Amino acid sequence: MGLSRLLPRPNTRASSDKKGSPLSRVISFANQKGGVAKTTTTLNLGVALKEKGHTVLLIDLDPQGNLTMSQGWNPDEIERSMFDVLVHKLPIEEIVRVAEVDVAVSSIDLAGAELALSSMIGRERALEKALVSVKPQYDYILIDTPPSLGLLTINALVASNGVIVPVQCEYLSLRGLVQLENTLSMIRENLNPDVEIQGILPTMYDKRLLHSKEAVDILKENFGDLVFKTKIRKTIRYAEAPVKGQSVLGYDPSGNAAQLYRDLAKEVLNGAKTREHA
Ligand SMILES: Nc1ncnc2c1ncn2[C@@H]1O[C@H](COP(=O)(O)OP(=O)(O)OP(=O)(O)O)[C@@H](O)[C@H]1O
Ligand SMILES: [Mg+2]
Repeated sequence: MGLSRLLPRPNTRASSDKKGSPLSRVISFANQKGGVAKTTTTLNLGVALKEKGHTVLLIDLDPQGNLTMSQGWNPDEIERSMFDVLVHKLPIEEIVRVAEVDVAVSSIDLAGAELALSSMIGRERALEKALVSVKPQYDYILIDTPPSLGLLTINALVASNGVIVPVQCEYLSLRGLVQLENTLSMIRENLNPDVEIQGILPTMYDKRLLHSKEAVDILKENFGDLVFKTKIRKTIRYAEAPVKGQSVLGYDPSGNAAQLYRDLAKEVLNGAKTREHA
């Protein structure tokens, strides 16, 4: 496998100087590929930012409800969720639950949201509108998205300043990034000129495998400084913690797995990097 460049890509940077929100920073975790650690990263980065003294709201925008589950709630037993916020305009405060961090919860109903929204005017801006009332209360709002580039993910990208893209350290996982960048480019042109990739996060990195190293090399070759220095290593700890309804920082606070997300939080805070695209 050569370290060939990926397909030609559109510019991923916003054209204007970033305004950002004066009140809070909204970050989506997106990759249409399933199982790349979007949910794991949303939760653990959120808890790490809270540990550093920030106020944090997590939003579960995935009908699978994995983020909701990973804080100990059963999405099947949740009556009011992000579905009601997006479709019935229920104030988001009414569905926020508190565990290690504040979470706006999901339920299986959310699977119907794309269809329900599709005929509504302003369908891409439902989440952006819902966040207006809670922005003053939070320094960071982190949005977990489903493994698709449908209307839910588009709502997340329209509501965000930044996007963090978790990427599994495998060659085949890298190819889908072009599609994500195309979507982002379209959103920037039509709906939210300020959104840009804040960072690409290598996940499930196995330092014993040459293949993992090669995948990171390809990422750096294509995305330069946008690739976070922190690489999230492969360890079973990340799968164990949600079973206990905890982040890995709560489950094994002094372990390496927790430390990696603290390192990532430091990078996010030091940069709010919006780094120059290579
Ligand atoms: N660094 C890691 N090492 C090993 N396992 C991990 C790691 N990060 C996440 N996992 C596990 O991999 C699985 C997928 O992770 P996660 O649910 O965060 O991915 P996702 O991108 O949100 O998936 P989906 O696309 O289905 O929403 C989970 O079982 C999780 O516990
Ligand atoms: Mg997920």
